[in-house]
Amino acid sequence: MTQRTLVLLKPDAVRRGLTGEIISRIERKAGWRITALELRTLDQETLEQHYGEHKGKPFYEPLVEFMASGPVVAMIVEGERVIEGLRALAGPTDPIAAAPGSIRGDYGVIVRENLIHASDSEESAEREVKIFFPGRA
Ligand code: PPS
Repeated sequence: MTQRTLVLLKPDAVRRGLTGEIISRIERKAGWRITALELRTLDQETLEQHYGEHKGKPFYEPLVEFMASGPVVAMIVEGERVIEGLRALAGPTDPIAAAPGSIRGDYGVIVRENLIHASDSEESAEREVKIFFPGRA
């Protein structure tokens, strides 16, 4: 099942110089490929569109503030079962609960600075690709 997903390497990953390491892990997966990639600082409008479903939740404001605190690497990744696969590679939201071997499990400690976002469903992926790469919708 070939899919595509939207991945963000969050400001902590960029600040800590972990983007190359994380991108390598994605590239090493047989059959997955990065078909768009851009370093950019996210504005409020983009963040509101992307995280709108979480508006009102206690973590919304800290999340948006954090995501605007420095550049992110936005990517489209395509390949076999890439939506489920990238979520597994990332590990659960709380890095302390994430298994060693996952990106969050290996590099994260606090929930807000959990290094990576990956779309959670085909519908989210299409919505998020449109936000970050409108030319690829
Ligand atoms: S939910 O309510 O189950 O849908 O939430 P969840 O999927 O766990 O998280 C949604 C996004 O919010 C981020 N998050 C946080 N950011 C900052 N601080 C805290 N405490 C926090 N808790 C959750 C979480 O990393 C998700 O962001 P993305 O970019 O999708 O990973």
